[in-house]
Amino acid sequence: MLENTKLFLALKRPKGSTAPKRSGQYLFNQHNLGRYESDVKKGLELIKRTITNNNQPFSGILPRELAPAFKDIDLDLPLKKTQKALDELSEVYLKDAVYFHNPKYVAHLNCPIVYPTVMAELILSSINTSVDTWDQSAGATLIEQKLVDWTLGRIGYGENADGVFTSGGTQSNLMAMLLARDHYCETQLDGYSVKEQGLPECANKFRIFTSDLSHFSIQKSAALLGLGYDAVIAIAHDEFFQMDSQVLAAEIKKTKAAGLIPIAVMATTGTTDFGSIDPIDEISDLCKQHNLWMHADAAYGCGILVSNKHRHKLAGIEQADSVTVDYHKSFFQPVSCGAFFTKHKEKLGYVTHHADYLNPLSATEEGTPNLVNKSMQTTRRFDALKLWLTLRIMGAKRIGAIFDEVILRAEQTYELFSSDGNIDVLHKPQLSTLVFRFHPAHSSLKPLIADDELINQCNETIRKTIFRSGKAVVAGTKVKGKSYLKFTLLNPETSMQDIEEILAMIKHAGQKFVNKQIQPLKVSANEEIIPTSDRQVSGKLKRVLSLKS
Ligand SMILES: Cc1ncc(COP(=O)(O)O)c(C=O)c1O
Repeated sequence: MLENTKLFLALKRPKGSTAPKRSGQYLFNQHNLGRYESDVKKGLELIKRTITNNNQPFSGILPRELAPAFKDIDLDLPLKKTQKALDELSEVYLKDAVYFHNPKYVAHLNCPIVYPTVMAELILSSINTSVDTWDQSAGATLIEQKLVDWTLGRIGYGENADGVFTSGGTQSNLMAMLLARDHYCETQLDGYSVKEQGLPECANKFRIFTSDLSHFSIQKSAALLGLGYDAVIAIAHDEFFQMDSQVLAAEIKKTKAAGLIPIAVMATTGTTDFGSIDPIDEISDLCKQHNLWMHADAAYGCGILVSNKHRHKLAGIEQADSVTVDYHKSFFQPVSCGAFFTKHKEKLGYVTHHADYLNPLSATEEGTPNLVNKSMQTTRRFDALKLWLTLRIMGAKRIGAIFDEVILRAEQTYELFSSDGNIDVLHKPQLSTLVFRFHPAHSSLKPLIADDELINQCNETIRKTIFRSGKAVVAGTKVKGKSYLKFTLLNPETSMQDIEEILAMIKHAGQKFVNKQIQPLKVSANEEIIPTSDRQVSGKLKRVLSLKS
């Protein structure tokens, strides 16, 4: 009987296939597709359950409250059952995760994702393609290259341009600075090759200009590239939070006069805090005049490349020598999905290294497209598939429409906040962020509430209070040493009602903070420690603090 069953099973198996060994039980292959599908469905069910029951962006949990949940987890003792592992995951992660799809998540540059990308994630992880070489990827390489070419077209670059997908803006900015450094050495130091010879003696004189509002990856890259933080000169911004090109012109001259060597300007086309776009044409003119590499960090601003209404805001970006794009910010792609582009494709050679076992020079000479030749990474995820399915299913117009919608929401929020006497708004948004602070109307209360330190503490407390409640997530930042709150609006589902509700939370937390501050004053007044005149102030204080909600 047993023999008959064995024979039956052997006949049912496809020709040439063997029964899965226990060690291979979890491998992704044709033998395990049934279990694979059932497990993926369990994961999908968990996601659906979690998202259906989720009605706020965060639980408000503190690290010390969550940490004990990990104490008894022994990673050497598997739970064996998928469902058990998923239940555990729900407890230690999903229950308290931060949800970017929730309309009241308005903090950092995290976007809700479009779901064709999730299908792409499943496919690219299952096949586990690596896009470093053709012999590990085949069509995937062509898909990535096609998307690179498409984005180059959107930037407005010509024939000689090229690019590559990266892990995100930080890596793209690092590539930009590496290309700028090595390009300078090659063209200005008589063919000097940093790749072969290391840094030249004069490298400690290299200077790179960037606005004082640019992303910290510029400083970090300078350090990683052996130039040091000192190589980065921060250029003051103007009243619109854009790099002041007159200050830039003066600084370039000053730097040269001091015997230092300007090599590049890192412009930001969409600053992290303000969404402000540096003046592309003016910076480009200065770069041409002084023979400097111009980079445009459009990690955030890149969504404008597909915008149906705001494309003019990036006019002239094609003049930059290189551009950073983060599809995982304003193209609504899951992390990670970024890219780097340059209009001088031969400069990507600064990161090329031929290894006999991977990408020999002979393969390049034969015309084999090995993307590793232009990447800092070797093994590399096929993140391009996410953008591919997005464009093939939804199309670029729909992505642009989402970005347009969140820009509109930022404009509406600006109008609302500007007309509120208890909110100081710092800027009119160019993209979709808004930096502001709670500042109760208080003209008669100086120095008590006019005290910046108090307002700083108040706004920091507001952010923490709201985060702890989990009902909304708002960001904080500092401008000229003062604490502000920040909205980064990337969710088109965030309605003005959501904004008003968050504003009410801000005011409530702010008022509570200020009330606490004046409590000691009232007690002191009763005890006649504070002079009568100050007691009158206390009365006024109460009146102005009855804020409109
Ligand atoms: C303007 C800008 N550039 C670069 C980056 C870094 O991008 P990533 O976090 O993808 O490395 C950011 C991140 O917020 C950014 O806002």
